[in-house]
Amino acid sequence: MKDITIPEFLYGTAWKEDKTCDLVLRALKAGFRGIDTACQRKHYYEAGVGKSLKIAYEEGLVSRNDLFLQTKYTYIMGQDQRLPYNPDASYTEQVRQSFMKSLENLCTEKIDSYILHGPAQLKVISDIDIEVWREMEAIKNEGLTQHIGVSNIQIKQLEQLFETARIKPAFVQNRCYAKFKWDSDVRAFCKKNNIIYQGFSLLTANKSEISTQAFVNICEKYGKTPAQIIFRFAKQLGMLPLTGTTNEEHMKSDLDIYNFELNSDAMHLIENISTQT
Ligand SMILES: NC(=O)c1ccc[n+]([C@@H]2O[C@H](COP(=O)([O-])OP(=O)(O)OC[C@H]3O[C@@H](n4cnc5c(N)ncnc54)[C@H](OP(=O)(O)O)[C@@H]3O)[C@@H](O)[C@H]2O)c1
Repeated sequence: MKDITIPEFLYGTAWKEDKTCDLVLRALKAGFRGIDTACQRKHYYEAGVGKSLKIAYEEGLVSRNDLFLQTKYTYIMGQDQRLPYNPDASYTEQVRQSFMKSLENLCTEKIDSYILHGPAQLKVISDIDIEVWREMEAIKNEGLTQHIGVSNIQIKQLEQLFETARIKPAFVQNRCYAKFKWDSDVRAFCKKNNIIYQGFSLLTANKSEISTQAFVNICEKYGKTPAQIIFRFAKQLGMLPLTGTTNEEHMKSDLDIYNFELNSDAMHLIENISTQT
């Protein structure tokens, strides 16, 4: 299988339950080629994603080589009772069992990006995280994933992980708050170290900022929806944005952000929008 180029947008599959298959299929039809999921039944129905991929291949809509598939290893504290691994196994074994389950769920022999869903502790990278990362590195060395990365990580932890990692993270996936200057410290570290920053909750975490008059004025000036302005802003900042929209019109309009450019005044205003609220 050839190395896939990284798409400009990721379709997120969290919280879709039995609509997962149908919505992923609709997202593929709308033009999404990057899919984000997790082997965490509590929030994701990964097997439902796999089901939609099978249908899409059968219908000739896409082939596996057209897609960028990303999934995650999640610690037990982020799971419910539907575990993808033996809780008594070592962390090394748990990562391997979860990864194999993901391959099965997604009907694939290889993942494009494998993500540690979040460090085991809030402020540091622990020995457990290092053990997990080593197994993720082994999976990458075996050619079973093209990239490895990490999610829900603070700057100090990222610096620590980067220092210890033999294979450096290719991606950081974080919730992106305007009030923290859109995660500026983590993004700056990523930029310096060739890590692609994936931003989620760009709309839901920034509702008050998006409703300010200053932001509404930008939408009116460009004739675009708030979501289009936010996703275009994220792209111009160098982020790889995620959307998990369940609405077909939103899917299309989220992808329709490549025919305009925000000027430096608009970029500056949005970067500093939380000072406007
Ligand atoms: N790593 C992690 O821990 C983590 C955590 C959370 C999420 N994620 C990933 O990120 C993905 C996205 O999650 P999210 O937190 O960003 O929220 P989201 O699931 O994308 O939710 C967006 C919300 O905004 C609404 N919306 C209105 N207009 C929209 C538009 N034009 N485009 C998109 N949404 C619009 C959506 O409603 P409609 O459905 O009606 O459009 C929805 O209620 C998840 O599916 C998951 O893959 C990862």
